[in-house]
Amino acid sequence: MGYGHIVILTGAGISAESGLGTFRDKDGLWTRYNLEDVATPEGFARNPVFVHEFYNARRANLRDARPNAAHEALARLETAWPGDVLIVTQNVDDLHEQAGSRNVIHMHGELSRIRCGACETVSEHRHDLFVDSECADCGVAGTLRPHVVWFGEMPLRMEEIFTALDECDLFVSIGTSGTVYPAAGFVAHVRRFGHARTVELNLDPSEGHSLFAETRYGPASELVPAFVDELLKA
Ligand code: OAD
Repeated sequence: MGYGHIVILTGAGISAESGLGTFRDKDGLWTRYNLEDVATPEGFARNPVFVHEFYNARRANLRDARPNAAHEALARLETAWPGDVLIVTQNVDDLHEQAGSRNVIHMHGELSRIRCGACETVSEHRHDLFVDSECADCGVAGTLRPHVVWFGEMPLRMEEIFTALDECDLFVSIGTSGTVYPAAGFVAHVRRFGHARTVELNLDPSEGHSLFAETRYGPASELVPAFVDELLKA
């Protein structure tokens, strides 16, 4: 089938086999940390040292992680496909980009970027950040935070995402539990307002699995390359 517009939603499950933990699986981040403490503006205001330590540890994990066969297959699809391929990721890692994907929207921000609360500049930052770190742009100290979207904050680039969902003729969801909105609502949006084929590729059925026309279960490193091969051969 010659899909003109493909949208692929990814979540933590696609990076699990690269050694980055998921959130809600056994041993997931939210079983070890209270998300109110490390992923809300209120938690950051209460204890910025703790929040910086949490993200410093996650940046260190990311420095050791490499893309797996699932990220690589999606990059291959983008290169070979005659139409548009857009990845909308909830992940703050940059493994899609490391694998070679170019058309990626990080709706929950990026671990490798920081933002200044004084001048709003977003800049690349792959190492530790501290409460007294100075903004390289405006020189003010103590105003930097991770450029990640916390609970209670607006996800990024939503207008672009909904335009792409309205246009797409294939929507694939990979490695997400389907518990966090607005991403969890994308499949329902596509079904209500569009005409796209909807496919879920995940280790286990997600919360919204029954909304997908097709579902396949197994590790992303196997399912995604096989699915991409099918698309490219069709
Ligand atoms: P979750 O941890 O909620 O879900 C991970 C999903 O990946 C689960 O459905 C697993 O079954 C699946 N999974 C695990 N290993 C897999 C593998 N090897 N191959 C395929 N699937 C696998 O992670 P997300 O759905 O991404 O938001 O979580 C959504 C958001 O909640 C995150 O972006 C983050 C978190 O709180 C913010 O921090 C704002």
